[in-house]
Amino acid sequence: MPKLYIAEMLRAQHKHHVSFHTPGHKRTGADITELSYSDCLSSPTGILQAAENDIAEILGGERSFILTDGSTSGIFSMVYALKAAGKTSLAVPAYSHPSVWHACEVMRIKPVPMPQTVRYGIPQQPDVAALEAALEGAEAILLTSPDYYGNIANLSAAQKLCVQANKPLLVDGAHGGHLHREKEVYAGSYADMWVDGVHKSLPAMTQGAVVSAKSQGWAKNLHAGVLRFRTTSPSYPIMASVEYAVKYPQNDRIKEAAKAFKREHGCYENADWTKILVPFGKEGPKAAAYLEAHGVYPEFNDGNYIMFYLSPCTKEKDLKVLGRLLKKLARGEVKEDAPAGAIPMYSEDE
Ligand SMILES: Cc1ncc(COP(=O)(O)O)c(C=O)c1O
Repeated sequence: MPKLYIAEMLRAQHKHHVSFHTPGHKRTGADITELSYSDCLSSPTGILQAAENDIAEILGGERSFILTDGSTSGIFSMVYALKAAGKTSLAVPAYSHPSVWHACEVMRIKPVPMPQTVRYGIPQQPDVAALEAALEGAEAILLTSPDYYGNIANLSAAQKLCVQANKPLLVDGAHGGHLHREKEVYAGSYADMWVDGVHKSLPAMTQGAVVSAKSQGWAKNLHAGVLRFRTTSPSYPIMASVEYAVKYPQNDRIKEAAKAFKREHGCYENADWTKILVPFGKEGPKAAAYLEAHGVYPEFNDGNYIMFYLSPCTKEKDLKVLGRLLKKLARGEVKEDAPAGAIPMYSEDE
C-alpha cells in the first residue's frame, strides 16, 4: 500500500489534545476538524494537497477533488463547471440518477434526454446513433458508466464524437470507482470531467467520492464548482477512507470468482464484475426474504433481478455461501420490457 497521508496524520495526532474547536462532541480521535496540522480542504497546502495530488495521478486527472458529500456533490460541481464555461444544454441518458436532473435544474442547464431501450428489463446504454443525435441537440454529453446494472457505456465512441464536435464529455461514475485500474473501460481515460463514487465499489466510507478534470481549463471551472457544492466541514474519517480506497490494490481473485459465478448462476451478462444480477422475476420477494433469513443482504430487488454488489473486499467464502443459497431458490421469468424499478425515469414532480 502506498503512503496514506491522511490516515498517517490522524494516527500521529498528539495524545494530549484539548479541544476548543468543533466538532461539539469534544472527543479526541479521527473525527477532527481543519486544524494547523490537518490542512484545509478548500485551499490545501499540506497532507490533503498531497493526497489529492496522488489521487489525481492515479486516476489520470489534471486535478482531483476529494468529496465527503457523495457523487451528488461531484455531479453538481461538474454541471456548474459546464455552466461557468457558458454551456446551456447537456445530453443525459433518460434513466440518469436524480442528481443529474437536479443539477441541471439548479444550474439552469437544459437536460436533453437520450433514449435508452429496455432489454431484459434493464435500460441499455445509449448507442452510437443516440450519441450522434445527442450531439446535434446539446452542447455537452453526460454518460453514466457503469450504471447500476453494470452496463458500461461506449466511452471510446463518445469521446471520438465529442472531440470531433468540440464538445465536452462528462461521466457519472458513481458506480465505477473500482475501474481506474482497467483503463480501457475507465471514465478517466475518456472524459473531460468525471466522478468516482468510491464509497460504492471500493472500501471507502459512505459518501466518500472524488471528482476529477482532465485539463487545466476544466480543472479551474470544476474547482469553482467544488467550492460551491462541497461542505466546508469535511469529515476526516471519510477523507482518509477515500485516499485508502483509491490506493487499495486490485483483487483479481474476487474479480475472476465473480465472473465464474455469473456464468454458473445464469446472471445478467454485464461488463462490470462488481454487479451480479440474478433473474428472479416474481419470485424475487420470496428469494430476498429467504436470503435475509440467512443473513445475506443484497443491494436491491427491482421486481426482475436481485442485485449483489461486490468490491475488492468481498470475500470468496461469502460468494460461495451465496452460490449455495441461490441453488435452493426458485426463479421466475424476467419481464422483458418492464421499466427498471431501481432507476426510475425522472419525473418533473420530484
Ligand atoms: C448513477 C448514480 N449517480 C449518482 C449517484 C449519487 O451518488 P451519491 O449517493 O454518492 O451521492 C448515485 C447513487 O446511487 C447513482 O446511482
